[in-house]
Amino acid sequence: MSSTTERSLVLIKPDAVRRGLLGEILSRFERKGLVVEALELRTMDASLADAHYAEHVDKAFYPPLKDFMTSGPLAALVLSGDSVIEVVRAMIGATDGRKAAAGTIRGDLALSNRENLVHASDSPESAERELALWFPKL
Ligand code: TYD
Ligand code: MG
Repeated sequence: MSSTTERSLVLIKPDAVRRGLLGEILSRFERKGLVVEALELRTMDASLADAHYAEHVDKAFYPPLKDFMTSGPLAALVLSGDSVIEVVRAMIGATDGRKAAAGTIRGDLALSNRENLVHASDSPESAERELALWFPKL
């Protein structure tokens, strides 16, 4: 893999904050060598949820997902590093915590297909879109 420094938008979701896993999850990213460029505790409102999850708003799972994502504070992060988008997706594991591989954040700490602790940009295009949405001044 060639070396490319890039940025990813990562959300440590309300279930992680409620469960006291903010430090554990942040620590995994830090220990990996990724750089925290921005970090803010925020509560998603309905319009930000709809914009953030634009690709999912028409799906059956969206209404309960929106309720969950707006249910309390989350940590919004900008992480940077070599190949950070792909690296963070590998670290968080598959969407469904019951199926995510052991050793990943979801595989080790989540047991749900909805309350799965972390969001991370999945491509350079989605990172650009999500960073503009969450951190327009960065
Ligand atoms: P998705 O983009 O498919 O997953 P990922 O977060 O791994 O990129 O879905 C976005 C979020 O929607 C996912 O993190 C949890 C929720 N979700 C459900 O609640 N039910 C589902 O069946 C799916 C696929 C996702
Ligand atoms: Mg996704």
